[in-house]
Amino acid sequence: MTVHFIGAGPGAADLITLRARDLIASCPVCLYAGSLVPKAVLAHCPAKARVVNTAPLDLDAIIAECEAAHAAGQDVARLHSGDLSVWSAMGEQMTRLKALGIPVSVTPGVPAFAAAAAALETELTLPGVAQSVVLTRTSGRASAMPEGEALANFAATGATLAIHLSIHRLEDVVSDLVPFYGADCPVAVVFRATWPDERVLRGTLATIAGAMEDGINRTALILVGPALSGETAVRSALYSTEYDRRYRPQTADSPFSSLEDDT
Ligand SMILES: C[S@@+](CC[C@H](N)C(=O)[O-])C[C@H]1O[C@@H](n2cnc3c(N)ncnc32)[C@H](O)[C@@H]1O
Repeated sequence: MTVHFIGAGPGAADLITLRARDLIASCPVCLYAGSLVPKAVLAHCPAKARVVNTAPLDLDAIIAECEAAHAAGQDVARLHSGDLSVWSAMGEQMTRLKALGIPVSVTPGVPAFAAAAAALETELTLPGVAQSVVLTRTSGRASAMPEGEALANFAATGATLAIHLSIHRLEDVVSDLVPFYGADCPVAVVFRATWPDERVLRGTLATIAGAMEDGINRTALILVGPALSGETAVRSALYSTEYDRRYRPQTADSPFSSLEDDT
Protein backbone atom coordinates (compact mmCIF):
# COMPACT_ATOMS: atom_id res chain seq x y z
CA MET A 1 0.00 0.00 0.00
CA THR A 2 1.32 3.44 -0.94
CA VAL A 3 0.07 7.02 -0.72
CA HIS A 4 0.85 8.48 -4.15
CA PHE A 5 1.20 12.28 -4.08
CA ILE A 6 0.27 13.45 -7.57
CA GLY A 7 0.56 16.87 -9.18
CA ALA A 8 -2.84 17.36 -10.84
CA GLY A 9 -1.76 20.27 -13.02
CA PRO A 10 -3.06 23.83 -13.35
CA GLY A 11 -6.64 23.10 -14.36
CA ALA A 12 -7.15 21.55 -17.80
CA ALA A 13 -7.92 17.88 -17.25
CA ASP A 14 -5.57 16.76 -20.04
CA LEU A 15 -2.59 18.53 -18.43
CA ILE A 16 -1.69 15.66 -16.14
CA THR A 17 1.07 13.17 -16.88
CA LEU A 18 0.36 9.68 -18.19
CA ARG A 19 1.85 8.35 -14.95
CA ALA A 20 -0.59 10.47 -12.94
CA ARG A 21 -3.56 9.23 -14.99
CA ASP A 22 -2.54 5.59 -14.58
CA LEU A 23 -1.93 5.94 -10.84
CA ILE A 24 -5.30 7.64 -10.29
CA ALA A 25 -6.95 4.82 -12.25
CA SER A 26 -5.23 2.18 -10.10
CA CYS A 27 -6.06 3.62 -6.65
CA PRO A 28 -9.24 2.59 -4.80
CA VAL A 29 -8.99 5.78 -2.70
CA CYS A 30 -8.57 9.34 -4.04
CA LEU A 31 -8.06 12.36 -1.79
CA TYR A 32 -8.16 15.62 -3.73
CA ALA A 33 -7.66 19.26 -2.80
CA GLY A 34 -11.05 20.39 -4.00
CA SER A 35 -10.41 24.12 -4.08
CA LEU A 36 -8.15 23.87 -7.16
CA VAL A 37 -8.02 20.30 -8.50
CA PRO A 38 -10.35 20.05 -11.52
CA LYS A 39 -13.23 17.60 -11.07
CA ALA A 40 -12.64 16.25 -14.58
CA VAL A 41 -9.38 14.67 -13.38
CA LEU A 42 -11.46 12.55 -11.00
CA ALA A 43 -13.02 10.81 -14.02
CA HIS A 44 -9.88 8.64 -14.06
CA CYS A 45 -10.75 7.15 -10.65
CA PRO A 46 -12.09 3.57 -10.65
CA ALA A 47 -15.90 3.42 -10.65
CA LYS A 48 -16.15 2.32 -7.00
CA ALA A 49 -13.30 4.45 -5.63
CA ARG A 50 -13.69 6.32 -2.36
CA VAL A 51 -13.26 9.94 -3.55
CA VAL A 52 -12.83 12.57 -0.81
CA ASN A 53 -12.55 16.33 -1.15
CA THR A 54 -9.99 17.35 1.48
CA ALA A 55 -10.72 21.09 1.30
CA PRO A 56 -12.86 21.00 4.48
CA LEU A 57 -10.56 18.55 6.34
CA ASP A 58 -7.69 19.33 8.69
CA LEU A 59 -4.35 17.51 8.64
CA ASP A 60 -5.41 14.95 11.27
CA ALA A 61 -8.50 14.01 9.25
CA ILE A 62 -6.45 13.63 6.05
CA ILE A 63 -3.93 11.41 7.80
CA ALA A 64 -6.80 9.38 9.30
CA GLU A 65 -8.07 8.71 5.74
CA CYS A 66 -4.60 7.47 4.78
CA GLU A 67 -4.33 5.29 7.89
CA ALA A 68 -7.71 3.70 7.15
CA ALA A 69 -6.64 2.97 3.56
CA HIS A 70 -3.33 1.57 4.86
CA ALA A 71 -5.17 -0.75 7.25
CA ALA A 72 -7.33 -1.96 4.33
CA GLY A 73 -4.29 -2.38 2.07
CA GLN A 74 -5.65 0.18 -0.40
CA ASP A 75 -3.44 2.55 -2.41
CA VAL A 76 -4.27 6.26 -2.19
CA ALA A 77 -4.02 8.87 -4.95
CA ARG A 78 -3.41 12.20 -3.16
CA LEU A 79 -4.04 15.02 -5.65
CA HIS A 80 -2.78 18.59 -5.31
CA SER A 81 -2.99 21.33 -7.92
CA GLY A 82 -0.07 22.16 -10.19
CA ASP A 83 3.17 20.61 -9.03
CA LEU A 84 3.89 19.34 -5.54
CA SER A 85 7.18 21.16 -5.06
CA VAL A 86 5.60 24.55 -4.37
CA TRP A 87 2.78 25.49 -1.98
CA SER A 88 1.20 22.03 -1.93
CA ALA A 89 1.44 21.19 1.81
CA MET A 90 2.78 17.79 0.73
CA GLY A 91 5.67 18.05 3.18
CA GLU A 92 3.63 18.12 6.37
CA GLN A 93 1.52 15.16 5.23
CA MET A 94 4.58 13.20 4.19
CA THR A 95 6.27 13.76 7.55
CA ARG A 96 3.27 12.28 9.34
CA LEU A 97 2.91 9.35 6.91
CA LYS A 98 6.59 8.45 7.17
CA ALA A 99 6.37 8.54 10.98
CA LEU A 100 3.50 6.03 10.69
CA GLY A 101 5.55 3.81 8.37
CA ILE A 102 3.17 4.38 5.43
CA PRO A 103 5.02 4.26 2.06
CA VAL A 104 4.76 7.29 -0.25
CA SER A 105 5.60 8.22 -3.84
CA VAL A 106 5.66 11.57 -5.68
CA THR A 107 4.57 12.24 -9.27
CA PRO A 108 5.24 15.78 -10.55
CA GLY A 109 2.66 17.96 -12.28
CA VAL A 110 2.51 21.00 -14.56
CA PRO A 111 2.93 24.06 -12.32
CA ALA A 112 0.76 27.16 -12.62
CA PHE A 113 3.69 29.38 -13.62
CA ALA A 114 4.38 27.18 -16.67
CA ALA A 115 0.69 27.19 -17.61
CA ALA A 116 0.61 30.98 -17.29
CA ALA A 117 3.70 31.39 -19.47
CA ALA A 118 2.07 29.12 -22.06
CA ALA A 119 -1.08 31.28 -22.00
CA LEU A 120 1.15 34.28 -22.71
CA GLU A 121 3.00 32.33 -25.44
CA THR A 122 6.24 33.55 -23.95
CA GLU A 123 9.49 32.45 -22.38
CA LEU A 124 10.20 33.81 -18.92
CA THR A 125 13.93 33.93 -19.63
CA LEU A 126 15.46 35.97 -22.41
CA PRO A 127 19.16 36.15 -23.36
CA GLY A 128 20.78 39.34 -22.12
CA VAL A 129 17.63 40.38 -20.22
CA ALA A 130 16.67 37.81 -17.58
CA GLN A 131 18.09 34.38 -16.94
CA SER A 132 16.28 33.61 -13.71
CA VAL A 133 12.67 33.12 -12.69
CA VAL A 134 11.67 33.64 -9.07
CA LEU A 135 8.61 31.71 -7.89
CA THR A 136 7.40 33.71 -4.94
CA ARG A 137 4.43 35.12 -3.08
CA THR A 138 3.60 37.83 -0.59
CA SER A 139 2.68 37.27 3.05
CA GLY A 140 -0.71 35.73 3.64
CA ARG A 141 -2.86 34.99 6.65
CA ALA A 142 -1.49 31.47 6.95
CA SER A 143 2.15 32.13 5.99
CA ALA A 144 4.36 35.12 6.65
CA MET A 145 7.31 35.68 4.31
CA PRO A 146 10.68 34.83 5.86
CA GLU A 147 12.95 37.78 6.44
CA GLY A 148 15.10 38.35 3.40
CA GLU A 149 12.41 37.22 0.94
CA ALA A 150 10.76 40.61 0.53
CA LEU A 151 9.69 41.27 -3.08
CA ALA A 152 12.14 44.17 -3.19
CA ASN A 153 15.06 41.80 -2.61
CA PHE A 154 14.14 39.66 -5.60
CA ALA A 155 13.26 42.72 -7.67
CA ALA A 156 16.77 44.07 -7.13
CA THR A 157 18.07 41.18 -9.29
CA GLY A 158 15.94 42.12 -12.33
CA ALA A 159 14.78 38.51 -12.68
CA THR A 160 11.32 37.57 -13.93
CA LEU A 161 8.97 37.25 -10.96
CA ALA A 162 6.08 34.77 -10.87
CA ILE A 163 4.08 36.03 -7.91
CA HIS A 164 1.57 33.55 -6.50
CA LEU A 165 -1.22 33.91 -3.95
CA SER A 166 -1.06 37.70 -4.18
CA ILE A 167 -3.62 38.97 -6.67
CA HIS A 168 -5.58 40.61 -3.84
CA ARG A 169 -2.45 42.69 -3.08
CA LEU A 170 -1.75 43.81 -6.65
CA GLU A 171 -1.43 47.48 -5.73
CA ASP A 172 1.12 46.73 -2.99
CA VAL A 173 3.05 44.51 -5.40
CA VAL A 174 3.16 47.32 -7.96
CA SER A 175 4.41 49.89 -5.48
CA ASP A 176 7.11 47.51 -4.21
CA LEU A 177 8.36 46.81 -7.73
CA VAL A 178 8.23 50.18 -9.52
CA PRO A 179 11.45 51.45 -7.87
CA PHE A 180 13.36 48.49 -9.30
CA TYR A 181 11.78 47.71 -12.68
CA GLY A 182 10.39 51.13 -13.60
CA ALA A 183 6.77 52.01 -14.35
CA ASP A 184 7.07 50.82 -17.97
CA CYS A 185 8.02 47.26 -17.04
CA PRO A 186 5.68 44.68 -18.60
CA VAL A 187 3.27 42.82 -16.31
CA ALA A 188 0.77 40.07 -17.01
CA VAL A 189 -1.99 38.72 -14.81
CA VAL A 190 -3.13 35.23 -15.79
CA PHE A 191 -6.37 34.13 -14.17
CA ARG A 192 -7.20 30.39 -14.06
CA ALA A 193 -4.64 29.44 -16.70
CA THR A 194 -5.88 26.48 -18.80
CA TRP A 195 -9.39 26.52 -17.27
CA PRO A 196 -12.30 27.25 -19.64
CA ASP A 197 -12.68 30.72 -18.06
CA GLU A 198 -8.97 31.62 -18.35
CA ARG A 199 -8.32 35.34 -18.68
CA VAL A 200 -5.09 37.18 -19.52
CA LEU A 201 -4.49 40.85 -18.73
CA ARG A 202 -1.37 42.57 -19.99
CA GLY A 203 -0.02 45.96 -19.08
CA THR A 204 2.83 47.68 -17.33
CA LEU A 205 3.50 48.37 -13.69
CA ALA A 206 1.86 51.76 -14.33
CA THR A 207 -1.31 50.37 -15.92
CA ILE A 208 -2.01 46.87 -14.60
CA ALA A 209 -3.97 47.85 -11.49
CA GLY A 210 -6.30 49.99 -13.61
CA ALA A 211 -6.74 47.12 -16.09
CA MET A 212 -8.01 44.69 -13.45
CA GLU A 213 -11.43 43.21 -14.18
CA ASP A 214 -14.23 42.03 -11.90
CA GLY A 215 -14.01 38.39 -10.92
CA ILE A 216 -10.22 38.10 -11.15
CA ASN A 217 -9.34 36.84 -7.71
CA ARG A 218 -7.57 34.00 -5.93
CA THR A 219 -6.46 31.70 -8.77
CA ALA A 220 -4.31 34.21 -10.62
CA LEU A 221 -0.61 34.68 -11.15
CA ILE A 222 1.19 37.99 -11.51
CA LEU A 223 4.18 37.82 -13.86
CA VAL A 224 6.55 40.78 -13.90
CA GLY A 225 9.83 41.53 -15.64
CA PRO A 226 11.45 42.95 -18.75
CA ALA A 227 11.69 39.47 -20.31
CA LEU A 228 7.91 39.58 -20.84
CA SER A 229 8.45 42.15 -23.59
CA GLY A 230 10.11 39.44 -25.68
CA GLU A 231 12.57 42.09 -26.83
CA THR A 232 16.31 41.58 -26.67
CA ALA A 233 19.32 42.58 -28.74
CA VAL A 234 21.00 39.29 -27.81
CA ARG A 235 20.08 36.01 -29.47
CA SER A 236 20.58 32.64 -27.84
CA ALA A 237 23.87 31.09 -29.03
CA LEU A 238 22.24 27.68 -29.14
CA TYR A 239 20.87 27.96 -32.68
CA SER A 240 23.40 30.48 -33.99
CA THR A 241 25.01 29.34 -37.26
CA GLU A 242 28.53 29.87 -35.90
CA TYR A 243 28.08 28.34 -32.47
CA ASP A 244 30.36 25.31 -32.01
CA ARG A 245 28.53 22.63 -30.08
CA ARG A 246 28.42 18.91 -29.51
CA TYR A 247 25.52 18.33 -31.86
CA ARG A 248 26.75 20.70 -34.59
CA PRO A 249 30.60 20.86 -34.66
CA GLN A 250 31.68 23.78 -36.84
CA THR A 251 35.15 22.56 -37.91
CA ALA A 252 37.05 19.29 -38.20
CA ASP A 253 39.27 20.30 -35.28
CA SER A 254 36.37 21.27 -33.06
CA PRO A 255 36.70 19.57 -29.66
CA PHE A 256 33.22 18.20 -30.36
CA SER A 257 34.11 16.51 -33.70
CA SER A 258 35.72 13.49 -32.08
CA LEU A 259 32.95 12.92 -29.53
CA GLU A 260 30.69 9.98 -30.09
CA ASP A 261 27.07 10.78 -30.74
CA ASP A 262 25.22 9.87 -27.57
CA THR A 263 21.77 10.94 -28.67
C1 LIG B 1 -1.55 27.05 -3.24
S1 LIG B 1 -0.76 27.70 -4.67
C2 LIG B 1 -0.56 26.21 -5.59
C3 LIG B 1 0.58 26.26 -6.57
C4 LIG B 1 0.73 24.93 -7.31
N1 LIG B 1 1.23 23.88 -6.42
C5 LIG B 1 1.64 25.05 -8.53
O1 LIG B 1 2.47 24.15 -8.77
O2 LIG B 1 1.48 25.99 -9.30
C6 LIG B 1 -2.10 28.49 -5.44
C7 LIG B 1 -1.68 29.70 -6.24
O3 LIG B 1 -1.08 29.27 -7.45
C8 LIG B 1 -1.51 30.09 -8.51
N2 LIG B 1 -2.30 29.26 -9.43
C9 LIG B 1 -2.65 27.96 -9.28
N3 LIG B 1 -3.31 27.51 -10.37
C10 LIG B 1 -3.37 28.55 -11.22
C11 LIG B 1 -3.92 28.72 -12.53
N4 LIG B 1 -4.52 27.73 -13.17
N5 LIG B 1 -3.80 29.94 -13.12
C12 LIG B 1 -3.17 30.97 -12.48
N6 LIG B 1 -2.64 30.86 -11.25
C13 LIG B 1 -2.74 29.68 -10.64
C14 LIG B 1 -2.32 31.22 -7.92
O4 LIG B 1 -1.44 32.29 -7.61
C15 LIG B 1 -2.83 30.58 -6.66
O5 LIG B 1 -3.11 31.57 -5.68
